[in-house]
Amino acid sequence: MAFMGAGVLLESCSAGLPLVKISPKDRSLFVPLNKFSDKNNLLVVRCNNLENDILLVKNANEYKALYLKCTHEGVGLTATDKKILCSAHGSAFDFDGNVLKEPALRPLRQFHTEVINDNLVIQLF
Ligand code: FES
Repeated sequence: MAFMGAGVLLESCSAGLPLVKISPKDRSLFVPLNKFSDKNNLLVVRCNNLENDILLVKNANEYKALYLKCTHEGVGLTATDKKILCSAHGSAFDFDGNVLKEPALRPLRQFHTEVINDNLVIQLF
């Protein structure tokens, strides 16, 4: 799979959280750290190469990258400022990816992240 140059675009997703659209580079997503602020520790990342979005959660200087795909039957999830919801059968997840409400039983998939210079790098493999 060939990857084109990286690009970043900031918008707002349907649940009101900030949304960044990023093209992958070397199978990684480079999210500028300045997309987070004191008031904003949640960021939805959209990448054309992925079926679903990723929710980035900042907690102090730690980051989680949660794949917004329900572990019940694979439906795309909606992140709000309180929790992560599945509209299909009502499952809910916290910002660690743990199940708050069934029928989903397994936690959300997480991608490995690391801070490199001024970017949070999400490794997609
Ligand atoms: S697919 Fe999400 S609760 Fe069923």
